[in-house]
Amino acid sequence: MHPQTDPPAHGDAPRLAWGLTGSGHWLRETLEYLRQLDGVDLFLTRAAAEILAQYGYGLDALRERMRVYQDRTASAVPVGFLYGAHYHTLVIGPATSNTVAKCVAGISDTLVTNLYAQAGKCRIPSIVFACDTRPTEISEAPGRTVTLYPRPVDLDNTARLARMPLTRVAEDFDSLKAAVEQRLACLRTSCS
Ligand SMILES: Cc1cc2nc3c(=O)[nH]c(=O)nc-3n(C[C@H](O)[C@H](O)[C@H](O)COP(=O)(O)O)c2cc1C
Repeated sequence: MHPQTDPPAHGDAPRLAWGLTGSGHWLRETLEYLRQLDGVDLFLTRAAAEILAQYGYGLDALRERMRVYQDRTASAVPVGFLYGAHYHTLVIGPATSNTVAKCVAGISDTLVTNLYAQAGKCRIPSIVFACDTRPTEISEAPGRTVTLYPRPVDLDNTARLARMPLTRVAEDFDSLKAAVEQRLACLRTSCS
């Protein structure tokens, strides 16, 4: 089991910081994908921790495979790890409407929105897989499938996020995986 409050050790190769928000949409696929990746630390919003439980995923099982940091402090203490060159990239996925709206507005009052703000200030690139990219989405609620209609404000926020500096927005799950793999391949050839 990984320590839950310590940063990665100094001298470790830079890692991927993955922010998980309170989204049921694409949660199962995201967790399956995370199983295939090495060098990832997971950062949860308070809503993400609740959603994981609602969809039947235990934190202990996740912690067997990776460091999991929870949103338990007003100042988002784990965000300080970004200052120590421990992370080369931030991925937020899936990103709720709430998190996307806050990122666009420059609000940082959760662990994940703080990561996004501080990644920007540290010039660490972010990849965001937004929940709201289409006028109609088929989504998984606990125990059933639902059709959702993201509002114009949600779609507009996603479009605005794509124009933020150092930010790549993935509009679907395949694009998320392609963006992550492209970034990891780029790092293997020493790009910045
Ligand atoms: C079962 C369940 C599923 C949810 N799925 C989504 C979702 O797919 N997308 C979304 O934007 N919000 C979803 N929400 C609402 C968010 O969890 C809620 O807006 C929360 O405040 C987001 O906080 P965060 O952005 O800090 O994680 C869901 C809520 C519940 C109870």
